[in-house]
Amino acid sequence: MKTFQVLQLSLIFSIFVNLVQSQYLFPDDFKFGVASSAYQIEGAWNVNGKGMSIWDRITHTTDIVPDNATGDIACDSYHNWERDVEMVKETGVDFYRFSLAWTRIFPDGYISYVNQDGVDYYNNIINKLIENDIEPVITLYHWDLPQMFSPQGGWANPAIIDLFTYYAKKAFEFFGDRVKLWITFNEPKVFCQDFNLFMSAANEVYPSGVIDYMCTYHVLKAHAETYHIYNREFKATQKGRISLTLNFEWSEPGSDSPEDIAAAEQRRQFEFGLYANPIINFDYPKIVKDRIAERSKQQGFPESRLPQFTLAEKLRIRGTYDFLGLNHYSTWHVFAAAERDIAEISYESDMGTFRNQSNEWPTSGSDWNKVVPWGLRRILQWIKKTYRNPIVLITECGYPDQTGTLDDEPRQDFLRDYFNATLEAIHEDQVNVQAFTIWSLMDNLEWQQGYRIKFGLFHVDFEDEARTRTAKKSVAYVRSVVETRKTD
Ligand code: GAL
Repeated sequence: MKTFQVLQLSLIFSIFVNLVQSQYLFPDDFKFGVASSAYQIEGAWNVNGKGMSIWDRITHTTDIVPDNATGDIACDSYHNWERDVEMVKETGVDFYRFSLAWTRIFPDGYISYVNQDGVDYYNNIINKLIENDIEPVITLYHWDLPQMFSPQGGWANPAIIDLFTYYAKKAFEFFGDRVKLWITFNEPKVFCQDFNLFMSAANEVYPSGVIDYMCTYHVLKAHAETYHIYNREFKATQKGRISLTLNFEWSEPGSDSPEDIAAAEQRRQFEFGLYANPIINFDYPKIVKDRIAERSKQQGFPESRLPQFTLAEKLRIRGTYDFLGLNHYSTWHVFAAAERDIAEISYESDMGTFRNQSNEWPTSGSDWNKVVPWGLRRILQWIKKTYRNPIVLITECGYPDQTGTLDDEPRQDFLRDYFNATLEAIHEDQVNVQAFTIWSLMDNLEWQQGYRIKFGLFHVDFEDEARTRTAKKSVAYVRSVVETRKTD
């Protein structure tokens, strides 16, 4: 065959492949959802008996959040919950992932006093969702620890394990007849490895590389105990599933050098394996254990700064997941780096490596939320390989801008690209990913960024007392993907 004919044939073939690729369909049982969290949307921070959380304290007493922004009113979902359900309905998705404010139900955190108003509030939302054929998915802990537990060190204090499991058990009793998907923790890496931020108050400093690992250790134990309580006491009758949600930014080797390839894997294990490995495999990842033990030794600590599990604890934690919840936002290039000064005691120096993002990757409304859809596909492939292809539910993924414009084509493009990456992972890599959740249902309080960064499918008018919500363009797009199962 002549070269020209070969070229023509290969062109036709690649057009055909592209056509087929863009026509991958989401399987019938693949679920779509939208997400929010209590502190970011509810407001009514002290209304009808709600107690104070650490985020109420952080926004009231520190200057971490710009513009003096607080969640005191936020989207006022405490009063607008019926409209919220209507909005979820309008997107056409199958489920709504939201979180319980622990202190709305138990104002002091302890279960000795129940604030019935809080129970009623969540019952109303759950019932309304079900009436509308929307599945409620509940996160028990999305960062708003009862303030009462903060002076004792919060997640650094082992007492928190029982306090959390008591609360979780009550949540199963109150809502578990109707809630079939539970998430114990949202992104422990964020609230443990950034411990100072979450506990910030005048004159308190919690040393990184010590306290944050205590948090990790207690969260993993609390998660496992909660899983076992659900399994033992509720699963047979309530027939739900339970796990936790971990955040994962993809670490791509910065070059083909063996050092950078190893550095990227090291970073994945420190950021994701630290939590996923004890639950899905066994114990902390070896590289994480070895590095922290070695650095601790050189620093003169009598034992590793990473609290070690006993054999019984390892066995108790292993297997405590019915699926793996994944939050994903962006991707980084990771490089090997010279060992940091041994005098430096911190999670970052234990992890080593350094990272940056390519200028060629499209940006969004937030510095580091670069749009890199292939990073999501690599994550899904890596999870399949590292953890024997577990069920993965993408519990958050979304696009921020700074304007909140209704004409949000970049968000639509982002969603199309990340949906396609998911489709490729399903159809070409046989990854067991079964759900995609968009962050977020509406613009809301974006933690340390206040109201400057907007992730919503719905715009919220924060100047307006009624906090009027308006659909952005991407709502219609999401609806069409859910209906047609295709991205175009
Ligand atoms: C996640 C967090 C969400 C939301 C999102 C957007 O880490 O779970 O609450 O803020 O980031 O940045």
